[in-house]
Amino acid sequence: MEFRAAACCLVVCLASLVSCAPGAAQTIAHLEKHGAATQLVVDGKPFLVLGGELTNTASSSQEYMKPVWPRLAQMHLNTVLTGMSWAQFEPEEGKYDFALVDNLLAGARQQNLKIIFLWFGSWKNGLSSFAPAWVKADQKRFPRAQLGSGRSIEVLSTLSDENLRADTKAYVAFMHHLREVDADKHTVIMIQVENEVGILGDSRDRSDTANAAFARPVPKQLVEYLQSHKADLRSELKVLWDAAGDKTSGTWTQVFGEGTAADEAFMAWNYAHYMDQVTKAGKTEYPVPVFTNTWVVQPEDRGPGDYPSGCPEPHVLDIWRAGAPNIDFNAPDIYLPNFTEWVKRFHQHGNPLFVPESRGDAAGVANAFYAIGQQDSIGYSPFAIDVTGRLQSAEPRPVAAGPPDAQALPLSKGYAVLAQLAPLILEHQGTHTIGAVVLDAGTDRSSLRVGDYTITVGKPHDRRSGTVITTPQSPTYALIIATGPNDYVIAANSTEITFSPSTPGAPVAGLALIQAGSFVDGAWVPGRWLNGDDVLLNYKLAEAAATNQSGSGLRFAPDGPSIQKLKLYRYQ
Ligand code: DGJ
Repeated sequence: MEFRAAACCLVVCLASLVSCAPGAAQTIAHLEKHGAATQLVVDGKPFLVLGGELTNTASSSQEYMKPVWPRLAQMHLNTVLTGMSWAQFEPEEGKYDFALVDNLLAGARQQNLKIIFLWFGSWKNGLSSFAPAWVKADQKRFPRAQLGSGRSIEVLSTLSDENLRADTKAYVAFMHHLREVDADKHTVIMIQVENEVGILGDSRDRSDTANAAFARPVPKQLVEYLQSHKADLRSELKVLWDAAGDKTSGTWTQVFGEGTAADEAFMAWNYAHYMDQVTKAGKTEYPVPVFTNTWVVQPEDRGPGDYPSGCPEPHVLDIWRAGAPNIDFNAPDIYLPNFTEWVKRFHQHGNPLFVPESRGDAAGVANAFYAIGQQDSIGYSPFAIDVTGRLQSAEPRPVAAGPPDAQALPLSKGYAVLAQLAPLILEHQGTHTIGAVVLDAGTDRSSLRVGDYTITVGKPHDRRSGTVITTPQSPTYALIIATGPNDYVIAANSTEITFSPSTPGAPVAGLALIQAGSFVDGAWVPGRWLNGDDVLLNYKLAEAAATNQSGSGLRFAPDGPSIQKLKLYRYQ
């Protein structure tokens, strides 16, 4: 990926010596490997995206955005994800509204925020609602997908050269403009191409063009990918291919079997192929990393078509990798409670993780800590960041409740801590010296090894009775960094944390020194030295000693994450 980005930079610089001041090309945002992690590098340094996504049309109005910009900065965001509507960018064919882009760049720069643009081009949540009116109204020139019922829907066909040409032309104009106005400032750090693509209402496009394509052989590029990646294909696709006899040629149903799975594979290929061409053309103008977002399958979905068929779901990600080599990664939008399962499914087989849409309440903060600390995520971004009511709880609050103090929101408190830790997190991601845990409602504790110790993160207890203290509004989570053989920095919420040595030697971990505090410009500023009631978890020392425990551990209050720095020692 780095190589791909570097090669594109060269193209950009050759194409425009003006915008590529010395050093500028090297510092265009790009992805780099750091141990096992893939990180986003911005202005020459690894960057942790503490983001938030605006509601779909927020950025269409400067007036609306005026009070939003400062609030985003107060909430400790460093990046805003915002839609860029093709309809608004190119209201008349060939006439582009660059002021729309420039105003957003100016608003973000004023608050020292970075931008990830979401190109709402041919598709947004399956539909083509953000295509310009001159595209929508000319169905002959810009063909649409068709359902099995014979009805056409407001979804542009993936199989039309004219659709592809029009979207690409606008996107290239947009990326060209970004190069002209941002190549020396790097406000724009990534692009999401389209939004939650896929066909809804049927498992595949049933237009005549699509039926003809479906009856043709599976493209060679895909079959060759399956063959060359046979050993590490994701299991769902492998099972499908194996069941149909591991064919190296044939139609979609011959290679992937009869049924909706073949339809979904076909749609995945066509969306990937289309979006790869849009992306590739954009990268020749300005090669920032590009990703897709996925509407992940919901529990009530019966099959492709209930969820967007062809969307980069984990089970078709190999098809996306084969069909869209210019797209850097595929990202999930996760509102479901089983957040950890979904991020694990996406963070596999070399797909870097980034979460462009999720929740922004206290549970969302726990998600962010988990994704960043345990799954090396490039960052996190709750949806509807401009609607602060959405950030207090899962349900929108009535506006009459008044705008909450931005700094007091759970997300603001969480991002404040992650922002302090960002340099340390980025140093440790991908090196097995960082981990994170989030406990769901039914789990009281969970252990993980980080560095030389196994660390147990548990829900708080009553010290005498031993009963678990439940705080449903304040989830238990911890992000743990081993900064030395016996040294840790831990940021956590509503938890008790204990330690056990994982290397040979004395079996009990004791607490040598614990400080609460914060990082200011990367340097530790100690607050209280914690001891006594702050750390004593269990008076029953005989019971603790029998399990090689000291009876002491870390305690974190349930009022938002805080940081502790500690040194352990070992005894017999
Ligand atoms: C997912 C989409 O990607 C967003 O643009 C937005 O429409 C949300 N759903 C709404 O919850």
